[in-house]
Parts: sequence; C-alpha cells; structure tokens
Amino acid sequence: MNRRNFIKNSLITASVMALGAILSKFIPQEINKENKMKILVITGSPRINGNLNTLVDNFIKGAKENGHNVVRFDSAFKNVHPCIACNKCGMNGDCVFNDDFNFIKENIVDSDMVVFATPMYYFGITAQLKAVIDRFYSINGKIHTSKKSALILTYADTSASEAEPIKNHYEVLLNYLGWQDVGQIVASGVWTEGSVNNTDYPKQAYELAKKL
Ligand SMILES: Cc1cc2nc3c(=O)[nH]c(=O)nc-3n(C[C@H](O)[C@H](O)[C@H](O)COP(=O)(O)O)c2cc1C
Repeated sequence: MNRRNFIKNSLITASVMALGAILSKFIPQEINKENKMKILVITGSPRINGNLNTLVDNFIKGAKENGHNVVRFDSAFKNVHPCIACNKCGMNGDCVFNDDFNFIKENIVDSDMVVFATPMYYFGITAQLKAVIDRFYSINGKIHTSKKSALILTYADTSASEAEPIKNHYEVLLNYLGWQDVGQIVASGVWTEGSVNNTDYPKQAYELAKKL
C-alpha cells in the first residue's frame, strides 16, 4: 500500500469510527423515546412522610430518570366523593359529582401505565384509593385498553398471607380491565413513619421503575 492509499484508508476508518460513536450515542436515546410512557400514579396514604410515599417517591425518581412522564394523584389530599350508584353516568358518561376525580378522568385514558399505591388498612386498600377506583365506573367504557400497571403496598405485619387479599383485588381488577401487571412492591414490616427507610424496599421501588 502506498502512502496515498494508507492516508485515504486511515481517513475512511477514522470517519466510520467517529460516525459509529455518534450513532451509538443517539440510537439508545431514540429507542428510549419510543418507550417513553405516561405513568399515572394513584396513591392512598394520608401520611405525607409515610412509608408509602417514600416508596412512591423512589419509583417516580426512577421513572423520571428514564424519561417517562409521571403524573401523580394523592387521593388522601383530594376531594373524591364515593360513588353513589345513581348510574347517571351509564358507566361511560358524566358523573353527578364535579370534583377532583376530573384529574383522573383527564389523565387515565392516555396513560400507558397506572400505579396503585396504598398502605394496608384492615387487610384492604385505603378508603381514599378505593373511592377513586370505584369512580372508574363512570369511565368504564374508556379504560379497557392496553395498559401496564404496578402495585405498591405497605403494611406493618410480616405475614405474607395478609397481603394476599389486596394482591388478589389488584390482579382481578387488572384482569377485568385488560391491563398487564409489571411489578409489585409488597413492603411488609413497616409500621412507624420512616421505618421503610431501614429496608431494601425503596431501592426495589426505584429499580422497578428503572426496568420499565
Ligand atoms: C387505620 C389503619 C389500619 C391499619 N391496618 C393494618 C392492617 O390491617 N395490617 C397491617 O399490617 N398494618 C395495618 N396498618 C399499618 C399500616 O399499614 C402501616 O403503618 C403502613 O406502613 C402505613 O403506610 P404509610 O406510612 O404510608 O401511611 C394500619 C394502619 C392504620 C392507620
């Protein structure tokens, strides 16, 4: 190979390598953009600095880091009237109550994922979260669409069997709606505010979001 060809080949190799380096930077971002989801997180704990919210904050941190668009509804601090079974909505229409459920109505239909997050109260989900889920009745005709979902649960006892009724409710609900479970953080043994900080659960919540 003469000097001229050597320089030419070197330049071509360098150009291809530079182009490869540039593309490798951009291609993962393009893939990430395609996978970017709108995630609606519905929480049910009235303890602002409680265990549930710590897990939710960690989940949201991970989701945002991965470029997802997260919208959050803290039902314990909202005005959501319980469903009164008047059936005026016909399961797909205007509800007689004009309250904070409007936020769910505006954000759930185009969400790609819905997270249900609740402490255990007497072996069930909290009344605040249940009120929101019951009001799904008025948008029932709009939400049987493909969505991902996750459950975040906190409770004081350590018996795994006590979490089964809530997990079962969540799974039956998803089955009815046609949504796909992508993960469950079931944090047992957390009673007092902040006790979840001494566990691995915040990391699990963060990692669940990172692997979406
Ligand atoms: C009204 C009430 C009912 C509860 N019921 C249960 C229960 O049935 N089983 C349990 O293990 N913990 C129960 N707990 C404890 C909470 O689930 C636990 O403290 C949880 O970590 C609270 O989450 P938070 O800090 O996000 O509010 C109850 C707490 C309250 C206030």
